[in-house]
Amino acid sequence: MANLTEEIKKRRTFAIISHPDAGKTTLTEKLLLFGGAIHVAGAVKSNKIKKTATSDWMEIEKQRGISVATSVMGFEYEGYKINILDTPGHQDFAEDTFRTLTAVDSVIIVVDVAKGVEQQTRRLMEVCRMRNTPVIIFVNKLDREGRDPFDILDELESELHIDVRPLSWPIGIGAKFKGVYNIYEQNLSLFKADKQHVTDRVDIRDINDPAIDKAIGSNDAEKLRADIELIDGVYPQFSTLDYLDGLVAPVFFGSALNTFGVKELLDCFVRIAPSPRPVQAMERTVEPGEDKFTGFVFKIHANMDPNHRSCIAFVKVCSGVFHRNQYYLHVRSDKQIRFTAPTAFMAQKKEIIDDVYPGDIVGLPDNGVFKIGDTLTEGELIHFKGLPSFSPEMFKYIENTDPMKTKQLNKGIEQLMDEGVAQLFVNQFNNRKIVGTVGQLQFEVIQYRLLHEYGASCRWDPIHLYKACWIESDDEEALEAFKHRKRQFMAIDKDGRDVFLADSAYVLQMAQDDFPKINFHFTSEF
Ligand code: G4P
Repeated sequence: MANLTEEIKKRRTFAIISHPDAGKTTLTEKLLLFGGAIHVAGAVKSNKIKKTATSDWMEIEKQRGISVATSVMGFEYEGYKINILDTPGHQDFAEDTFRTLTAVDSVIIVVDVAKGVEQQTRRLMEVCRMRNTPVIIFVNKLDREGRDPFDILDELESELHIDVRPLSWPIGIGAKFKGVYNIYEQNLSLFKADKQHVTDRVDIRDINDPAIDKAIGSNDAEKLRADIELIDGVYPQFSTLDYLDGLVAPVFFGSALNTFGVKELLDCFVRIAPSPRPVQAMERTVEPGEDKFTGFVFKIHANMDPNHRSCIAFVKVCSGVFHRNQYYLHVRSDKQIRFTAPTAFMAQKKEIIDDVYPGDIVGLPDNGVFKIGDTLTEGELIHFKGLPSFSPEMFKYIENTDPMKTKQLNKGIEQLMDEGVAQLFVNQFNNRKIVGTVGQLQFEVIQYRLLHEYGASCRWDPIHLYKACWIESDDEEALEAFKHRKRQFMAIDKDGRDVFLADSAYVLQMAQDDFPKINFHFTSEF
Protein backbone atom coordinates (compact mmCIF):
# COMPACT_ATOMS: atom_id res chain seq x y z
CA MET A 1 0.00 0.00 0.00
CA ALA A 2 1.20 3.46 -0.82
CA ASN A 3 2.38 5.95 1.76
CA LEU A 4 -0.62 7.82 3.17
CA THR A 5 1.10 11.21 3.49
CA GLU A 6 2.40 11.03 -0.06
CA GLU A 7 -0.99 10.06 -1.41
CA ILE A 8 -2.66 12.95 0.44
CA LYS A 9 -0.09 15.45 -0.79
CA LYS A 10 -0.70 14.64 -4.44
CA ARG A 11 -4.48 14.87 -4.35
CA ARG A 12 -6.48 17.84 -5.58
CA THR A 13 -10.23 17.54 -5.19
CA PHE A 14 -12.24 20.43 -6.54
CA ALA A 15 -15.39 21.54 -8.32
CA ILE A 16 -15.88 23.88 -11.23
CA ILE A 17 -18.81 26.20 -10.72
CA SER A 18 -20.39 28.80 -12.93
CA HIS A 19 -23.60 30.33 -14.06
CA PRO A 20 -25.06 28.13 -16.82
CA ASP A 21 -23.39 28.70 -20.18
CA ALA A 22 -20.23 30.35 -18.90
CA GLY A 23 -18.23 27.30 -20.00
CA LYS A 24 -17.99 24.89 -17.06
CA THR A 25 -18.53 21.78 -19.19
CA THR A 26 -16.09 22.94 -21.83
CA LEU A 27 -13.41 23.72 -19.27
CA THR A 28 -13.92 20.37 -17.51
CA GLU A 29 -13.46 18.63 -20.79
CA LYS A 30 -10.29 20.52 -21.60
CA LEU A 31 -8.81 19.68 -18.23
CA LEU A 32 -9.52 16.02 -18.91
CA LEU A 33 -7.86 16.41 -22.28
CA PHE A 34 -4.68 17.68 -20.60
CA GLY A 35 -4.80 14.83 -18.14
CA GLY A 36 -4.99 12.38 -21.03
CA ALA A 37 -8.22 11.09 -19.52
CA ILE A 38 -10.02 11.67 -22.81
CA HIS A 39 -8.55 12.07 -26.24
CA VAL A 40 -10.94 14.20 -28.19
CA ALA A 41 -12.95 17.21 -27.28
CA GLY A 42 -16.67 16.54 -27.14
CA ALA A 43 -16.22 13.31 -25.23
CA VAL A 44 -17.82 14.56 -22.05
CA LYS A 45 -21.46 14.94 -22.77
CA SER A 46 -22.54 17.78 -20.67
CA ASN A 47 -24.44 17.44 -17.49
CA LYS A 48 -27.16 19.80 -18.48
CA ILE A 49 -30.84 19.97 -18.84
CA LYS A 50 -30.81 23.69 -18.67
CA LYS A 51 -31.55 24.33 -22.31
CA THR A 52 -34.51 22.04 -22.48
CA ALA A 53 -37.91 23.06 -21.31
CA THR A 54 -39.02 21.98 -17.88
CA SER A 55 -40.96 18.92 -18.97
CA ASP A 56 -38.51 17.09 -21.15
CA TRP A 57 -38.46 13.82 -19.22
CA MET A 58 -36.22 11.92 -21.53
CA GLU A 59 -33.67 14.61 -20.99
CA ILE A 60 -33.97 14.35 -17.24
CA GLU A 61 -33.52 10.60 -17.30
CA LYS A 62 -30.64 10.92 -19.70
CA GLN A 63 -29.14 13.51 -17.47
CA ARG A 64 -29.37 11.22 -14.46
CA GLY A 65 -27.61 8.52 -16.42
CA ILE A 66 -24.89 10.80 -17.66
CA SER A 67 -24.43 12.46 -14.37
CA VAL A 68 -23.38 9.24 -12.65
CA ALA A 69 -20.59 8.91 -15.17
CA THR A 70 -19.54 12.52 -14.81
CA SER A 71 -20.23 12.92 -11.09
CA VAL A 72 -16.59 12.49 -10.26
CA MET A 73 -13.88 12.61 -12.86
CA GLY A 74 -10.50 11.53 -11.62
CA PHE A 75 -7.29 11.76 -13.62
CA GLU A 76 -3.55 12.00 -13.19
CA TYR A 77 -1.58 15.03 -14.26
CA GLU A 78 2.14 15.52 -13.68
CA GLY A 79 2.21 13.28 -10.66
CA TYR A 80 -0.97 14.72 -9.14
CA LYS A 81 -4.23 12.87 -8.71
CA ILE A 82 -6.99 15.26 -9.63
CA ASN A 83 -10.67 14.73 -8.82
CA ILE A 84 -13.21 17.03 -10.44
CA LEU A 85 -16.61 16.84 -8.79
CA ASP A 86 -19.38 17.74 -11.16
CA THR A 87 -22.20 20.05 -10.14
CA PRO A 88 -25.57 20.33 -11.86
CA GLY A 89 -25.94 23.18 -14.28
CA HIS A 90 -29.58 23.87 -13.61
CA GLN A 91 -30.23 26.27 -10.79
CA ASP A 92 -33.18 24.23 -9.53
CA PHE A 93 -30.60 21.74 -8.36
CA ALA A 94 -28.59 24.33 -6.47
CA GLU A 95 -28.86 22.34 -3.29
CA ASP A 96 -27.02 19.42 -4.92
CA THR A 97 -24.29 21.84 -5.81
CA PHE A 98 -24.09 23.17 -2.25
CA ARG A 99 -23.68 19.64 -0.95
CA THR A 100 -21.02 18.81 -3.50
CA LEU A 101 -19.12 21.88 -2.35
CA THR A 102 -18.84 20.27 1.10
CA ALA A 103 -16.78 17.49 -0.45
CA VAL A 104 -14.20 19.62 -2.27
CA ASP A 105 -11.03 21.28 -1.06
CA SER A 106 -11.09 24.11 -3.59
CA VAL A 107 -13.12 25.57 -6.41
CA ILE A 108 -12.60 27.02 -9.88
CA ILE A 109 -15.19 29.60 -10.87
CA VAL A 110 -15.80 30.21 -14.57
CA VAL A 111 -17.02 33.65 -15.62
CA ASP A 112 -18.04 34.70 -19.13
CA VAL A 113 -16.01 37.77 -20.14
CA ALA A 114 -19.03 39.35 -21.82
CA LYS A 115 -21.50 38.67 -19.02
CA GLY A 116 -19.33 39.14 -15.97
CA VAL A 117 -20.56 37.91 -12.61
CA GLU A 118 -24.03 36.36 -12.88
CA GLN A 119 -26.57 35.47 -10.26
CA GLN A 120 -25.76 31.83 -9.70
CA THR A 121 -22.04 32.52 -9.44
CA ARG A 122 -22.81 35.02 -6.69
CA ARG A 123 -24.84 32.48 -4.71
CA LEU A 124 -22.26 29.73 -5.09
CA MET A 125 -19.51 32.10 -4.02
CA GLU A 126 -21.44 32.76 -0.81
CA VAL A 127 -21.24 29.07 -0.01
CA CYS A 128 -17.50 29.06 -0.72
CA ARG A 129 -17.08 32.06 1.53
CA MET A 130 -18.99 30.40 4.36
CA ARG A 131 -16.56 27.51 4.21
CA ASN A 132 -13.39 29.52 3.39
CA THR A 133 -12.94 27.43 0.28
CA PRO A 134 -9.98 28.61 -1.81
CA VAL A 135 -11.16 29.92 -5.17
CA ILE A 136 -9.47 30.40 -8.55
CA ILE A 137 -11.34 32.36 -11.22
CA PHE A 138 -11.16 31.61 -14.94
CA VAL A 139 -12.47 34.39 -17.18
CA ASN A 140 -13.64 32.59 -20.29
CA LYS A 141 -14.51 33.31 -23.94
CA LEU A 142 -11.77 35.86 -24.60
CA ASP A 143 -12.07 34.90 -28.28
CA ARG A 144 -15.38 36.78 -28.26
CA GLU A 145 -16.03 40.43 -27.78
CA GLY A 146 -16.38 41.17 -24.12
CA ARG A 147 -15.67 43.60 -21.37
CA ASP A 148 -12.42 45.28 -20.49
CA PRO A 149 -10.40 42.91 -18.26
CA PHE A 150 -9.79 45.62 -15.66
CA ASP A 151 -13.56 46.18 -15.41
CA ILE A 152 -14.07 42.45 -14.98
CA LEU A 153 -11.55 42.39 -12.14
CA ASP A 154 -13.36 45.25 -10.40
CA GLU A 155 -16.66 43.49 -10.81
CA LEU A 156 -15.28 40.20 -9.47
CA GLU A 157 -14.08 42.01 -6.36
CA SER A 158 -17.25 43.93 -5.73
CA GLU A 159 -19.75 41.21 -6.64
CA LEU A 160 -17.98 38.20 -5.18
CA HIS A 161 -16.59 40.04 -2.14
CA ILE A 162 -13.11 38.68 -2.50
CA ASP A 163 -9.78 40.28 -3.38
CA VAL A 164 -8.47 39.22 -6.76
CA ARG A 165 -5.01 38.93 -8.27
CA PRO A 166 -4.58 38.33 -12.02
CA LEU A 167 -1.99 35.64 -12.71
CA SER A 168 -2.43 35.71 -16.46
CA TRP A 169 -3.33 38.62 -18.69
CA PRO A 170 -5.04 38.75 -22.07
CA ILE A 171 -3.57 40.52 -25.06
CA GLY A 172 -6.54 41.99 -26.89
CA ILE A 173 -10.00 40.48 -26.91
CA GLY A 174 -12.46 39.07 -29.46
CA ALA A 175 -11.25 39.47 -33.03
CA LYS A 176 -8.10 41.14 -31.71
CA PHE A 177 -7.32 38.46 -29.15
CA LYS A 178 -3.69 37.50 -29.58
CA GLY A 179 -2.80 35.51 -26.54
CA VAL A 180 -2.20 35.51 -22.81
CA TYR A 181 0.82 36.54 -20.84
CA ASN A 182 1.43 34.21 -17.93
CA ILE A 183 2.25 36.47 -15.01
CA TYR A 184 2.78 33.53 -12.68
CA GLU A 185 5.43 31.86 -14.81
CA GLN A 186 6.45 34.81 -16.99
CA ASN A 187 5.85 33.31 -20.37
CA LEU A 188 3.65 34.06 -23.33
CA SER A 189 1.17 31.90 -25.20
CA LEU A 190 -0.03 32.93 -28.62
CA PHE A 191 -3.62 32.35 -29.50
CA LYS A 192 -4.51 29.92 -32.21
CA ALA A 193 -8.14 28.91 -32.46
CA ASP A 194 -8.02 25.18 -32.08
CA LYS A 195 -10.47 23.01 -30.29
CA GLN A 196 -8.34 19.90 -30.03
CA HIS A 197 -4.78 20.90 -29.46
CA VAL A 198 -2.74 22.56 -26.87
CA THR A 199 -1.09 25.81 -27.85
CA ASP A 200 2.70 26.08 -27.67
CA ARG A 201 4.30 28.65 -25.49
CA VAL A 202 6.74 31.38 -26.47
CA ASP A 203 9.49 31.33 -23.92
CA ILE A 204 10.61 34.74 -22.79
CA ARG A 205 13.03 36.02 -20.21
CA ASP A 206 10.71 38.61 -18.72
CA ILE A 207 8.13 41.18 -19.71
CA ASN A 208 10.80 43.34 -21.42
CA ASP A 209 12.03 40.57 -23.69
CA PRO A 210 12.00 41.80 -27.33
CA ALA A 211 10.65 38.36 -28.28
CA ILE A 212 7.28 39.69 -27.11
CA ASP A 213 7.40 42.56 -29.63
CA LYS A 214 8.29 40.09 -32.30
CA ALA A 215 5.45 37.79 -31.41
CA ILE A 216 2.60 40.26 -31.00
CA GLY A 217 3.85 43.53 -32.52
CA SER A 218 5.29 46.49 -30.66
CA ASN A 219 1.96 48.28 -30.08
CA ASP A 220 0.43 45.35 -28.28
CA ALA A 221 3.70 44.64 -26.50
CA GLU A 222 3.76 48.19 -25.17
CA LYS A 223 0.16 47.97 -24.04
CA LEU A 224 0.88 44.65 -22.35
CA ARG A 225 3.83 46.13 -20.49
CA ALA A 226 1.71 49.09 -19.37
CA ASP A 227 -1.06 46.76 -18.23
CA ILE A 228 1.33 44.56 -16.27
CA GLU A 229 2.89 47.61 -14.65
CA LEU A 230 -0.55 48.81 -13.64
CA ILE A 231 -1.46 45.37 -12.26
CA ASP A 232 1.73 45.19 -10.24
CA GLY A 233 1.03 48.67 -8.91
CA VAL A 234 -2.61 48.09 -8.02
CA TYR A 235 -2.71 44.47 -6.86
CA PRO A 236 -0.48 43.20 -4.08
CA GLN A 237 1.94 40.40 -4.83
CA PHE A 238 0.10 37.08 -5.04
CA SER A 239 0.22 35.18 -1.78
CA THR A 240 -0.52 31.45 -1.84
CA LEU A 241 -1.31 31.55 1.87
CA ASP A 242 -3.96 34.22 1.38
CA TYR A 243 -5.43 32.14 -1.43
CA LEU A 244 -5.51 29.06 0.80
CA ASP A 245 -7.27 31.09 3.49
CA GLY A 246 -9.91 32.16 0.97
CA LEU A 247 -8.82 35.80 1.13
CA VAL A 248 -7.67 36.29 -2.44
CA ALA A 249 -8.69 34.65 -5.70
CA PRO A 250 -6.10 34.35 -8.48
CA VAL A 251 -7.60 35.14 -11.89
CA PHE A 252 -6.76 33.55 -15.26
CA PHE A 253 -8.00 34.56 -18.69
CA GLY A 254 -8.55 32.34 -21.70
CA SER A 255 -10.89 30.51 -23.99
CA ALA A 256 -11.91 27.05 -22.84
CA LEU A 257 -13.41 26.20 -26.22
CA ASN A 258 -10.08 26.90 -27.90
CA THR A 259 -8.08 25.17 -25.16
CA PHE A 260 -6.44 28.47 -24.57
CA GLY A 261 -5.17 29.72 -21.22
CA VAL A 262 -6.29 26.41 -19.76
CA LYS A 263 -2.83 24.95 -19.29
CA GLU A 264 -1.72 28.08 -17.44
CA LEU A 265 -4.68 27.58 -15.16
CA LEU A 266 -4.07 23.88 -14.61
CA ASP A 267 -0.32 24.19 -14.01
CA CYS A 268 -0.85 26.87 -11.42
CA PHE A 269 -3.80 25.01 -9.92
CA VAL A 270 -1.88 21.81 -9.18
CA ARG A 271 0.88 23.79 -7.55
CA ILE A 272 -1.14 26.09 -5.32
CA ALA A 273 -4.49 24.35 -4.74
CA PRO A 274 -4.81 22.58 -1.41
CA SER A 275 -4.47 18.87 -0.90
CA PRO A 276 -7.23 17.37 1.27
CA ARG A 277 -7.89 19.63 4.20
CA PRO A 278 -8.96 18.78 7.74
CA VAL A 279 -12.69 18.22 8.01
CA GLN A 280 -14.80 19.52 10.86
CA ALA A 281 -16.95 16.94 12.61
CA MET A 282 -19.38 17.78 15.38
CA GLU A 283 -17.09 16.13 17.91
CA ARG A 284 -13.64 17.19 16.65
CA THR A 285 -11.51 18.11 13.66
CA VAL A 286 -10.53 15.12 11.55
CA GLU A 287 -7.08 15.31 9.92
CA PRO A 288 -6.64 13.53 6.58
CA GLY A 289 -3.40 11.91 7.77
CA GLU A 290 -5.02 10.06 10.68
CA ASP A 291 -4.57 6.27 10.55
CA LYS A 292 -8.22 5.40 10.78
CA PHE A 293 -10.66 5.74 7.95
CA THR A 294 -13.54 8.22 8.15
CA GLY A 295 -15.80 9.44 5.37
CA PHE A 296 -19.24 10.89 4.70
CA VAL A 297 -21.97 10.53 2.09
CA PHE A 298 -22.48 13.76 0.16
CA LYS A 299 -24.54 12.46 -2.71
CA ILE A 300 -26.80 9.53 -3.54
CA HIS A 301 -27.82 8.37 -6.97
CA ALA A 302 -30.83 6.16 -6.68
CA ASN A 303 -32.72 3.79 -8.91
CA MET A 304 -30.81 4.21 -12.10
CA ASP A 305 -32.44 1.06 -13.28
CA PRO A 306 -36.04 0.72 -12.11
CA ASN A 307 -35.80 -3.08 -12.36
CA HIS A 308 -33.18 -3.29 -9.66
CA ARG A 309 -33.25 -0.91 -6.77
CA SER A 310 -29.69 0.09 -7.49
CA CYS A 311 -28.35 3.08 -5.64
CA ILE A 312 -24.89 4.40 -5.39
CA ALA A 313 -23.72 6.46 -2.42
CA PHE A 314 -20.83 8.83 -3.01
CA VAL A 315 -18.50 8.90 -0.04
CA LYS A 316 -15.73 11.42 0.42
CA VAL A 317 -12.80 9.88 2.25
CA CYS A 318 -11.77 12.34 4.98
CA SER A 319 -9.01 10.40 6.75
CA GLY A 320 -7.13 7.12 6.65
CA VAL A 321 -7.58 4.56 3.90
CA PHE A 322 -10.83 2.91 2.91
CA HIS A 323 -10.34 -0.78 2.16
CA ARG A 324 -12.54 -3.06 0.16
CA ASN A 325 -14.09 -5.94 2.15
CA GLN A 326 -13.38 -4.35 5.51
CA TYR A 327 -16.19 -3.74 8.02
CA TYR A 328 -16.97 -0.11 8.81
CA LEU A 329 -19.35 1.45 11.28
CA HIS A 330 -22.36 3.18 9.76
CA VAL A 331 -22.71 5.67 12.60
CA ARG A 332 -26.38 6.58 12.22
CA SER A 333 -27.65 2.99 12.27
CA ASP A 334 -24.87 1.68 14.53
CA LYS A 335 -24.33 -1.20 12.09
CA GLN A 336 -21.12 -2.68 10.74
CA ILE A 337 -21.14 -2.78 6.95
CA ARG A 338 -18.70 -4.28 4.50
CA PHE A 339 -18.39 -3.32 0.85
CA THR A 340 -17.34 -5.90 -1.67
CA ALA A 341 -17.57 -3.75 -4.77
CA PRO A 342 -16.61 -0.15 -4.03
CA THR A 343 -15.97 1.84 -7.18
CA ALA A 344 -13.42 4.45 -8.04
CA PHE A 345 -14.15 7.12 -10.59
CA MET A 346 -11.52 7.65 -13.24
CA ALA A 347 -12.66 10.03 -15.93
CA GLN A 348 -15.73 8.37 -17.34
CA LYS A 349 -14.99 4.87 -16.15
CA LYS A 350 -16.12 3.23 -12.99
CA GLU A 351 -13.94 0.45 -11.66
CA ILE A 352 -13.71 -1.63 -8.52
CA ILE A 353 -11.03 -0.38 -6.20
CA ASP A 354 -9.27 -1.90 -3.17
CA ASP A 355 -7.85 1.15 -1.37
CA VAL A 356 -9.19 4.69 -1.40
CA TYR A 357 -7.26 7.68 -0.02
CA PRO A 358 -8.34 10.98 1.54
CA GLY A 359 -9.59 13.41 -1.07
CA ASP A 360 -10.89 10.61 -3.25
CA ILE A 361 -14.50 9.72 -3.71
CA VAL A 362 -15.61 6.13 -3.47
CA GLY A 363 -18.92 4.91 -4.85
CA LEU A 364 -20.69 2.40 -2.61
CA PRO A 365 -23.51 0.29 -3.96
CA ASP A 366 -26.40 0.75 -1.61
CA ASN A 367 -29.83 -0.72 -1.14
CA GLY A 368 -31.33 2.09 0.86
CA VAL A 369 -29.02 2.17 3.88
CA PHE A 370 -27.53 5.58 3.27
CA LYS A 371 -28.82 9.09 3.71
CA ILE A 372 -27.05 12.25 2.72
CA GLY A 373 -24.67 13.25 5.50
CA ASP A 374 -24.13 9.73 6.91
CA THR A 375 -20.72 9.00 8.37
CA LEU A 376 -18.64 5.81 8.08
CA THR A 377 -15.79 5.15 10.52
CA GLU A 378 -13.69 2.38 12.01
CA GLY A 379 -15.78 2.57 15.17
CA GLU A 380 -15.58 6.16 16.39
CA LEU A 381 -18.88 7.95 16.82
CA ILE A 382 -18.41 11.10 14.82
CA HIS A 383 -20.73 13.17 12.69
CA PHE A 384 -19.49 15.44 9.95
CA LYS A 385 -20.92 18.92 9.80
CA GLY A 386 -21.56 21.03 6.77
CA LEU A 387 -24.32 19.25 4.91
CA PRO A 388 -27.12 21.63 5.63
CA SER A 389 -30.52 21.68 4.07
CA PHE A 390 -31.43 25.21 3.12
CA SER A 391 -34.78 26.75 3.75
CA PRO A 392 -36.67 25.85 0.56
CA GLU A 393 -38.17 28.48 -1.66
CA MET A 394 -41.17 26.69 -3.14
CA PHE A 395 -43.79 24.60 -1.39
CA LYS A 396 -46.64 22.29 -2.36
CA TYR A 397 -48.88 19.84 -0.60
CA ILE A 398 -48.31 16.34 -1.91
CA GLU A 399 -51.50 14.26 -2.19
CA ASN A 400 -51.90 10.60 -3.00
CA THR A 401 -54.06 10.00 -6.07
CA ASP A 402 -54.05 6.21 -5.87
CA PRO A 403 -55.19 4.92 -2.45
CA MET A 404 -54.09 1.39 -3.39
CA LYS A 405 -50.51 2.61 -3.59
CA THR A 406 -50.16 4.48 -0.30
CA LYS A 407 -47.30 2.32 0.88
CA GLN A 408 -45.37 2.76 -2.35
CA LEU A 409 -45.92 6.50 -2.24
CA ASN A 410 -44.67 6.81 1.32
CA LYS A 411 -41.62 4.70 0.60
CA GLY A 412 -40.88 6.68 -2.56
CA ILE A 413 -41.20 10.00 -0.78
CA GLU A 414 -38.97 8.82 2.03
CA GLN A 415 -36.24 7.60 -0.29
CA LEU A 416 -36.29 10.66 -2.51
CA MET A 417 -35.99 12.86 0.57
CA ASP A 418 -33.07 10.77 1.88
CA GLU A 419 -31.45 11.26 -1.47
CA GLY A 420 -31.79 15.00 -0.92
CA VAL A 421 -34.08 15.73 -3.86
CA ALA A 422 -36.32 17.96 -1.73
CA GLN A 423 -37.47 18.40 1.86
CA LEU A 424 -40.56 17.05 3.52
CA PHE A 425 -42.46 18.82 6.28
CA VAL A 426 -45.51 17.41 8.00
CA ASN A 427 -47.95 20.04 9.18
CA GLN A 428 -48.78 19.21 12.79
CA PHE A 429 -52.19 20.83 12.61
CA ASN A 430 -53.74 19.02 9.64
CA ASN A 431 -51.15 16.25 9.17
CA ARG A 432 -50.73 17.12 5.51
CA LYS A 433 -47.39 16.55 3.85
CA ILE A 434 -45.62 19.54 2.35
CA VAL A 435 -42.72 19.23 -0.05
CA GLY A 436 -40.28 22.13 -0.19
CA THR A 437 -37.84 22.64 -3.05
CA VAL A 438 -35.54 25.27 -4.46
CA GLY A 439 -37.09 25.13 -7.93
CA GLN A 440 -40.19 24.18 -9.86
CA LEU A 441 -38.35 21.46 -11.73
CA GLN A 442 -37.98 19.31 -8.63
CA PHE A 443 -41.76 18.92 -8.27
CA GLU A 444 -41.90 17.52 -11.76
CA VAL A 445 -38.92 15.27 -11.16
CA ILE A 446 -40.45 13.91 -7.93
CA GLN A 447 -43.83 13.21 -9.53
CA TYR A 448 -42.18 11.49 -12.46
CA ARG A 449 -39.81 9.41 -10.36
CA LEU A 450 -42.54 8.37 -7.90
CA LEU A 451 -44.54 7.02 -10.80
CA HIS A 452 -41.69 5.36 -12.69
CA GLU A 453 -39.65 4.02 -9.81
CA TYR A 454 -42.31 3.31 -7.19
CA GLY A 455 -45.50 2.97 -9.19
CA ALA A 456 -47.12 5.66 -7.06
CA SER A 457 -49.01 8.64 -8.34
CA CYS A 458 -49.40 11.97 -6.68
CA ARG A 459 -50.90 15.39 -7.19
CA TRP A 460 -49.58 18.75 -6.09
CA ASP A 461 -51.91 21.11 -4.26
CA PRO A 462 -50.97 24.73 -3.85
CA ILE A 463 -49.98 26.15 -0.52
CA HIS A 464 -49.13 29.73 0.08
CA LEU A 465 -45.89 29.86 2.01
CA TYR A 466 -43.03 32.30 2.13
CA LYS A 467 -40.44 30.35 4.12
CA ALA A 468 -39.95 27.35 6.34
CA CYS A 469 -37.50 27.91 9.16
CA TRP A 470 -36.20 25.71 11.92
CA ILE A 471 -36.91 27.02 15.41
CA GLU A 472 -35.43 26.29 18.80
CA SER A 473 -34.98 27.98 22.14
CA ASP A 474 -33.24 27.46 25.47
CA ASP A 475 -36.48 28.43 27.09
CA GLU A 476 -38.82 25.42 26.93
CA GLU A 477 -41.80 27.47 28.03
CA ALA A 478 -41.27 30.12 25.39
CA LEU A 479 -40.92 27.41 22.78
CA GLU A 480 -44.15 25.73 23.83
CA ALA A 481 -45.93 29.08 23.88
CA PHE A 482 -44.74 29.82 20.37
CA LYS A 483 -45.76 26.42 19.08
CA HIS A 484 -49.17 26.77 20.67
CA ARG A 485 -49.76 30.24 19.30
CA LYS A 486 -48.64 29.22 15.80
CA ARG A 487 -50.00 25.68 15.86
CA GLN A 488 -51.60 25.98 12.46
CA PHE A 489 -48.21 26.84 11.01
CA MET A 490 -46.05 24.31 12.81
CA ALA A 491 -44.55 21.33 11.09
CA ILE A 492 -41.83 18.78 11.70
CA ASP A 493 -39.04 17.93 9.28
CA LYS A 494 -37.85 14.39 8.48
CA ASP A 495 -35.71 14.33 11.61
CA GLY A 496 -38.62 15.38 13.81
CA ARG A 497 -37.42 18.93 14.34
CA ASP A 498 -39.74 21.89 14.73
CA VAL A 499 -40.29 23.99 11.65
CA PHE A 500 -42.26 27.21 11.45
CA LEU A 501 -44.09 27.81 8.18
CA ALA A 502 -44.31 31.54 7.60
CA ASP A 503 -46.72 32.62 4.92
CA SER A 504 -45.22 36.05 4.36
CA ALA A 505 -42.10 38.05 5.11
CA TYR A 506 -44.24 40.25 7.33
CA VAL A 507 -45.51 37.32 9.40
CA LEU A 508 -41.98 36.04 9.83
CA GLN A 509 -40.73 39.44 10.91
CA MET A 510 -43.61 39.79 13.38
CA ALA A 511 -42.90 36.34 14.81
CA GLN A 512 -39.24 37.25 15.24
CA ASP A 513 -40.17 40.55 16.94
CA ASP A 514 -42.86 39.06 19.18
CA PHE A 515 -40.88 36.02 20.30
CA PRO A 516 -37.37 37.23 21.03
CA LYS A 517 -36.52 34.04 22.93
CA ILE A 518 -37.05 31.89 19.87
CA ASN A 519 -34.18 31.38 17.45
CA PHE A 520 -35.13 31.14 13.79
CA HIS A 521 -32.72 29.27 11.50
CA PHE A 522 -32.67 29.28 7.72
CA THR A 523 -30.46 26.26 7.26
CA SER A 524 -30.96 22.95 9.03
CA GLU A 525 -27.52 23.08 10.61
CA PHE A 526 -27.28 25.37 13.60
P1 G4P B 1 -21.79 25.42 -18.96
O1 G4P B 1 -21.34 24.01 -18.75
O2 G4P B 1 -21.16 26.40 -18.04
O3 G4P B 1 -23.26 25.59 -19.04
O4 G4P B 1 -21.25 25.90 -20.39
P2 G4P B 1 -20.73 25.07 -21.64
O5 G4P B 1 -19.36 24.57 -21.40
O6 G4P B 1 -21.77 24.12 -22.07
O7 G4P B 1 -20.61 26.26 -22.66
C1 G4P B 1 -21.72 27.02 -23.08
C2 G4P B 1 -21.54 27.48 -24.50
O8 G4P B 1 -20.40 28.34 -24.55
C3 G4P B 1 -21.27 26.34 -25.46
O9 G4P B 1 -21.83 26.71 -26.71
C4 G4P B 1 -19.76 26.35 -25.59
O10 G4P B 1 -19.31 25.82 -26.81
C5 G4P B 1 -19.48 27.85 -25.52
N1 G4P B 1 -18.12 28.16 -25.06
C6 G4P B 1 -17.44 27.62 -24.03
N2 G4P B 1 -16.20 28.16 -23.94
C7 G4P B 1 -16.10 29.05 -24.94
C8 G4P B 1 -15.04 29.93 -25.39
O11 G4P B 1 -13.95 29.98 -24.86
N3 G4P B 1 -15.33 30.71 -26.46
C9 G4P B 1 -16.52 30.67 -27.11
N4 G4P B 1 -16.68 31.47 -28.16
N5 G4P B 1 -17.53 29.86 -26.73
C10 G4P B 1 -17.32 29.07 -25.66
P3 G4P B 1 -23.22 26.19 -27.23
O12 G4P B 1 -23.36 26.66 -28.61
O13 G4P B 1 -24.27 26.59 -26.25
O14 G4P B 1 -23.12 24.66 -27.12
P4 G4P B 1 -22.35 23.64 -28.06
O15 G4P B 1 -23.34 23.31 -29.10
O16 G4P B 1 -21.12 24.32 -28.57
O17 G4P B 1 -22.04 22.50 -27.13
